Amino acid sequence: MTVLPSAPAPGTTVLEAEDLRVQLPTENGVLTAVDGVTFTLQAGRTLGLVGESGSGKSLTAKTLLRLNPKQFEESGRVTLHETSQEDQIDLMELRRDGAAIRSVRGRRVAMIFQEPMSAFSPLYTIGNQIMEAILLHRTSDRVEAREICVGMMQRVGIADAERRVDQYPHEFSGGMLQRALIAMALSCEPEVLIADEPTTALDVTIQAQVLELMRELQQEFGMAILFITHDLAVVAEMCDEVAVMYLGRIVERAPVREIFKHPKHPYTKGLLRSIPRIGMGRQERLYAIEGTVPQAIDMPPMCGFADRCTMRIDGVCDTARPRRVEVSPEHEVSCFLHDEDGTRDALAAGHESTGDEPGATAPRADEPRTDGPRTDGAAAESPGSQGPVERTRS
Ligand SMILES: Nc1ncnc2c1ncn2[C@@H]1O[C@H](COP(=O)(O)OP(=O)(O)OP(=O)(O)O)[C@@H](O)[C@H]1O
Ligand code: SF4
Ligand SMILES: [Mg+2]
Repeated sequence: MTVLPSAPAPGTTVLEAEDLRVQLPTENGVLTAVDGVTFTLQAGRTLGLVGESGSGKSLTAKTLLRLNPKQFEESGRVTLHETSQEDQIDLMELRRDGAAIRSVRGRRVAMIFQEPMSAFSPLYTIGNQIMEAILLHRTSDRVEAREICVGMMQRVGIADAERRVDQYPHEFSGGMLQRALIAMALSCEPEVLIADEPTTALDVTIQAQVLELMRELQQEFGMAILFITHDLAVVAEMCDEVAVMYLGRIVERAPVREIFKHPKHPYTKGLLRSIPRIGMGRQERLYAIEGTVPQAIDMPPMCGFADRCTMRIDGVCDTARPRRVEVSPEHEVSCFLHDEDGTRDALAAGHESTGDEPGATAPRADEPRTDGPRTDGAAAESPGSQGPVERTRS
């Protein structure tokens, strides 16, 4: 039997994604779907990735495992640390279909895909497909592989797993397929688990069981988890840290308690306000962020949220992209409201390009503006990355 590498100590950095960028061709031009995304995954800890539909969460996840189609242009670094911490590999340097990345997929970094139906081949039994990874990475003994497979199917709540293991995907309901996918991902006890909306298709009791199982296995094996979800209640329960994604960028990142207690970015605040609360009157309407996520094609150098932001500072937010700044330990945000120097620079650049008289100061908008989010476009300069982190006061 193959001996699995011993689990790294909790908090050890297992995977680092740096300045990930994914561009893809569309009918309307080149879409920058992931734009300078940086984060770290640590052993025994869970990073939640949240954001509206189309913000680039799944593409970020697939980029880590080099699963994007060849026509997508990718850049950045994905460093997978060896258990010793001395050796590292940059997954972005591996061929997308080569043996090296295939030996990482499933064994060291496993993914629970958002669409369970497309993750299984209709031609093979569920058991065969789960066992394939076990045989490749854990044991060459088919009897043992089957036992591991059935055991894992039982642990994710698939009743009658002994019989179900020989069934085909079309004989499974959507929720059961999702659980089979989770069993497949966990069966090789990976160092990193990427879970893309893993419980969306499940009813609440099974969802609770599966989340509990993921937590248990995380404690047992010290897995680092990237947990992608729309559900902020699940984030509160599962994650140690949260990264909020908007239009291909991480706009805020902080420990989970901090983000719920002291959100800084207007988009994060909007997301949190849109959660239903117990005790809310029936007449009380749920908050909804106005507008929709724009398409990131030929984006001018402005804050991507500016068209929808009720706190927007005209002449600043529409002239440059906000940098990433650290507002308190471990809490980073990209918003001019929290970056006085960046605001001053953006104002100066705006004046230079428009020829306006200097002297105006940016409104330090602590109160939402009342004229609503702006809907027009803005002057363009060449776009830049989120850049290095600056320290600032909140
Ligand atoms: N295979 C593809 N071909 C063309 N465009 C794509 C493809 N995959 C993703 N995109 C586009 O890239 C952007 C980011 O997509 P992605 O699937 O990462 O979003 P997401 O945040 O996971 O959304 P959701 O919450 O709906 O799953 C979207 O605009 C999407 O339309
Ligand atoms: S205040 Fe400006 S920088 Fe901050 S989110 Fe709103 S538009 Fe973007
Ligand atoms: Mg997705």
